[in-house]
Amino acid sequence: MAERTRPAPDASIHSLDHFALAVPGLDDARSFYADFGLTVRDEAGSLGLYAAGGPHRWGVVRKDARKHLDWLSFGAHADAMPKIADRLRKLGVATIAPPAGGPAGGLWFHDMDGLPVHVGVAAKSSPDAKSPFATPAVAAGGKRGASTRSAAPRVHPRRLSHILRFTPDVLRSVAFYEGVLGMRLSDRSGDGIAFLHAVHGSDHHVVAFAKSDAPGYHHSSWDMAALEDVGLGGMQMAAKGRTRGWGPGRHVLGSNYFWYVQDPWGSFAEYSADIDYVPAGTQWAAGDFPPEDAFYLWGPDPPADFVVNHEATVR
Ligand SMILES: [Fe+2]
Repeated sequence: MAERTRPAPDASIHSLDHFALAVPGLDDARSFYADFGLTVRDEAGSLGLYAAGGPHRWGVVRKDARKHLDWLSFGAHADAMPKIADRLRKLGVATIAPPAGGPAGGLWFHDMDGLPVHVGVAAKSSPDAKSPFATPAVAAGGKRGASTRSAAPRVHPRRLSHILRFTPDVLRSVAFYEGVLGMRLSDRSGDGIAFLHAVHGSDHHVVAFAKSDAPGYHHSSWDMAALEDVGLGGMQMAAKGRTRGWGPGRHVLGSNYFWYVQDPWGSFAEYSADIDYVPAGTQWAAGDFPPEDAFYLWGPDPPADFVVNHEATVR
């Protein structure tokens, strides 16, 4: 990269607007994400993924022979767009035509791993403050605290929180997303995993990278209102036979409570609650943590295939 400095906030993206995933079976995708608690809509031959917190479309899923991430689309304020375009020119990052089905307008380019990336003017979909986190009311003496299993509500994610990708070079990926889009490193564990936030106020990570032999998609993460909803979400998926995954537990980096459920293609969707938040205009003191002290604070042992990049084995 010709220039290693990072752009100012007024030349930086504010949100991960949506992700686009290609999968071999749309019927599998429709039932998986509906079971997960999202609203899935058939839209012009692909699926749109919507959450309970508003009308925003967080994901697009289309059919292809091989599962892979199709693109990431980031939102920016209108006055940042010329500055981001200028940044691309200065860094020698060529713009490209939108991929089939990708939004028109804005800027398209390939990132360090060849993934099509879009930056467009969009309403800020990253939250402007730490998301509310509900703790159950403590039952008074003489009262029951829990509902029955049969009365447990079906839970629904409020919004997309982040995407985690595999990459052959984590630190190069951090440099690209900091240098081109103005994101900032939140925390990392050596060159094995790194988490990036957006500077106009966002979750601790909106994009994260884990080291692998090849690029790949690991998981999408969805914000839940309470730890109880993370637990109920995992149970609601298990009741549908979707028992493979990892959770419940609590991460160290990002601090979120988690329950990952394996999707039909070997990657995951994560129920997440109480993730750390980086307010606009504040500096997050990025740390570098040894892996054994950074992965999770509590929870069951992760399954052996939790960090297998299934896309690396089919190339
Ligand atoms: Fe996650």
